[in-house]
Amino acid sequence: MIANSHDLLDRATVVHQQSDLKTYRDQGGILMAKGDGVYVTDENGNRYLEAMAGLWCASLGFSEKRLADAAYKQMLELPYYHTFFHKGNLPSVELADKLLSIAPDGMSKVLFQCSGSEANDAAIKLVWYYHDAIGKPEKKKIIGRVRGYHGNTVASVSASGQPHMTAGFGLPLPMFKHTDNPNYYRFHLDGESEEAFSARMADNLEKLILAEGPETVGAFFAEPVQGGGGAITPPRGYFAAIQAVLKKYDILFLADEVICGFGRTGEMWGSQTYGLKPDMVSCAKALSASYQPISALMISEKIYEAMVAQSAARGTFGHGFTYGGHPVACAVALETLKIYEEMRIVDHVKAVSPLMQDGLKALEAHPLVGNARGVGLIAGVELMADKASRAPFAPERKVGAMVEAECLKAGLIVRAIGDRIAFTPPLIISPAEIKEMLAKFKTGLDAALARIG
Ligand SMILES: Cc1ncc(COP(=O)(O)O)c(C=O)c1O
Repeated sequence: MIANSHDLLDRATVVHQQSDLKTYRDQGGILMAKGDGVYVTDENGNRYLEAMAGLWCASLGFSEKRLADAAYKQMLELPYYHTFFHKGNLPSVELADKLLSIAPDGMSKVLFQCSGSEANDAAIKLVWYYHDAIGKPEKKKIIGRVRGYHGNTVASVSASGQPHMTAGFGLPLPMFKHTDNPNYYRFHLDGESEEAFSARMADNLEKLILAEGPETVGAFFAEPVQGGGGAITPPRGYFAAIQAVLKKYDILFLADEVICGFGRTGEMWGSQTYGLKPDMVSCAKALSASYQPISALMISEKIYEAMVAQSAARGTFGHGFTYGGHPVACAVALETLKIYEEMRIVDHVKAVSPLMQDGLKALEAHPLVGNARGVGLIAGVELMADKASRAPFAPERKVGAMVEAECLKAGLIVRAIGDRIAFTPPLIISPAEIKEMLAKFKTGLDAALARIG
């Protein structure tokens, strides 16, 4: 397979053959060879502090031996078994119990898949299945948010609000609608408070529901903190106002905890940090510290009961994956949750995150930084051409990409999402490593500023 477009290489969606590697390297492609703690080292021996934990996911860093041991042990015992036809495997049962014991309030059952996209895809199917089951088959539309990200399958990318991922594919599917991106810093009106902005967001959601017809809207999908949209924390009062609208029109709420779950926001779940009361919760990434591909969709008893009744009526529940509940992935996830418990991951994030948040906030004094905002160990830094008027840089100047490239030269991996720089370091990051991360980021910013002039 060949990918010559730099854009494709950036997204790393294409796996390269040996014969392509010269082009890949010539275009700045990097192949990682080794990991230790919060660092990764490339094939040429360059070591980077990984301030994105890969793709917001390697929560325990890149060298947790206990996870390798758990995988090996399980492979020797039972390397594979599925969860179909009244058969299953013990690690998946143990993991389901463990996950539910720490789940957000109201979650009752678990469906395992292999990726965040698949968990959200399953949630979409269940929204439809549920509404058929309760005799409201017209309630099929799903509302996501502009810049939201829920995955890359046909359905989950339709729920996402990422036009560059749907354009060219005939997507989003017609039953997916999108409401505002709640980026307060970028989109608030002059003099508008966070609360007033949140009320306006909820008002716009209600207008959209009314325009579509409330009897046709089945669910709302949101991440507690928008990840792929730029690490955007919700403004004060946002979820309270949004959830009131959902309740009014009897619309299910899926909390996409694929990034926020397992301590990232300074509580076990982003839902706890922001007072969400979802009907379904998807999680992945830090579930296994990303050492194995596994995701979970947790659902409430209400949805489960409807699902059981409907599948009894239909004769089967026609959904599942060959590798869903894979014993090796489940064993690794179980060990991951054990490690979180032993190291008191939430307390650790609470203890170290102010250093990161305050350090990034202090960089608002830098000429390029308009705003730095985050929670726990996730943050977004907005680069601005003119801070006073909140004027962005022209996109074609690619200032975000420039900062990302300069950080890389300084030995730091961050992610530019347009002109927002995202940070989600491994949750095990130490205070000393946070200081190093901030210093390297400052070096990258200064170098980009020098280039911009
Ligand atoms: C919030 C959120 N949901 C879903 C996904 C999709 O997960 P995956 O890439 O494992 O399919 C992602 C991926 O980054 C994500 O950030």
